[in-house]
Amino acid sequence: MIQSSKKASLKGIITIPGDKSISHRSIMFGAMAKGKTTVDGFLLGDDCLSTISCFQKLGVKIDVNGNQVSIESDGIKNWNEPQDILNTGNSGTTTRLLLGILAASPIYAVMIGDDSIAKRPMKRVIDPLRQMGAQILGRSGGQYTPLAVQGTTLQGITYQMPVASAQVKSAILLAGLNSEGTTIVTELEPTRDHTERMMRQFGVQVETIDGDIHLRGGQQLVSTHIDVPGDISSAAFFLVAGAITDNSDIMLKNVGLNPTRTGIIDVLSQMGANLKVEESITNGEEPFGNIRIKSSELKGIEIGGELIPRLIDELPIIALLATQASGTTVIRDAAELKVKETDRITAVVNELKKLGANIEATDDGMIIKGPIQLNGGTVTSYGDHRIGMMGAIASLIASEPVEIDDPSCISVSYPNFFEHLKNVKTT
Ligand code: S3P
Repeated sequence: MIQSSKKASLKGIITIPGDKSISHRSIMFGAMAKGKTTVDGFLLGDDCLSTISCFQKLGVKIDVNGNQVSIESDGIKNWNEPQDILNTGNSGTTTRLLLGILAASPIYAVMIGDDSIAKRPMKRVIDPLRQMGAQILGRSGGQYTPLAVQGTTLQGITYQMPVASAQVKSAILLAGLNSEGTTIVTELEPTRDHTERMMRQFGVQVETIDGDIHLRGGQQLVSTHIDVPGDISSAAFFLVAGAITDNSDIMLKNVGLNPTRTGIIDVLSQMGANLKVEESITNGEEPFGNIRIKSSELKGIEIGGELIPRLIDELPIIALLATQASGTTVIRDAAELKVKETDRITAVVNELKKLGANIEATDDGMIIKGPIQLNGGTVTSYGDHRIGMMGAIASLIASEPVEIDDPSCISVSYPNFFEHLKNVKTT
């Protein structure tokens, strides 16, 4: 796919599609609860469709009507043992959270994903689950897919997380919910808390005391209605596009503003971006609102520590942002990037270098010097949706055409990305 080389201005309004993390969880919770759960604003991205297909194979009735989804279940205790392998596609969230759920269910199941999932570490989830009594087998002693799970009765755990990962935390909490006794999780650093919030929406008591999450096992979920706000990780591509292109002024509507996810807003503000956040009043668990962003001069900053889990998925597009900021931007404490859909430190550095960026990889991040006029070239997506979208946004400011090799992976999280881009591009 070739993007135009003419420098663009962006104008208009984009309604951001549903949050990927919350969409996954809405299916999982709806499937565990007895009764009917309805969901509005569901993300029809490939990853969330993988989650739907796995739960359908467990006998859960799931109907999709546009962005509205209904889930009818007899509850986790009455699922069917799947005759077929559960395929989690490209989705780490599906693989890890489903593992936690299945480990404490009465089900035997086998899970597999795509080539990227086959390389992603599962030991970080399987270790604590085994400590709870889980029976899981996997390649290399349980480190990689395919995974076979024989669900059984588990015991709650007190667990100190060795990595800052919401997927690991959520897998333990979902297992803990269906276990005997209490589960207490201590995080290395606070990570996205959609699982805890959705537990409350389904009537479960879960408390955070001095930063530790306490959950009593055996609580019943009460089916409910979930409104999914837009994904700030998808909005991030247009926030950066609005900031780095000339004469731009765009309004992003329906953006999830959960404070565990808003690191991108902090970074843009610290860099000097011209943005305004209007939070909507909500009775639900997940805050959301509109963000207006205009072009501006930007300056380099240091990004690390507790901020990293609050913007982990935004680091590829933040690296592109930094190429347009004056001075040096240092990203550190982000070694987790190496175990995402692809090694995102290597991918971002290689691809932005091809376009002429002054960027170097470090052991746990990147150092970027700007501002720099980017050239054209071919950006390889490595089958990673966020690298593909980074390339597409780079094309808006490059002096020559930017070609994206294999942009189809973008449908993992943002199926109508190119349509939205076309709608706001004015030159
Ligand atoms: C997610 C958590 C994050 C994030 C991923 C979605 C989730 O992964 O990168 O895209 O839905 O819980 P880690 O928690 O492993 O960092």
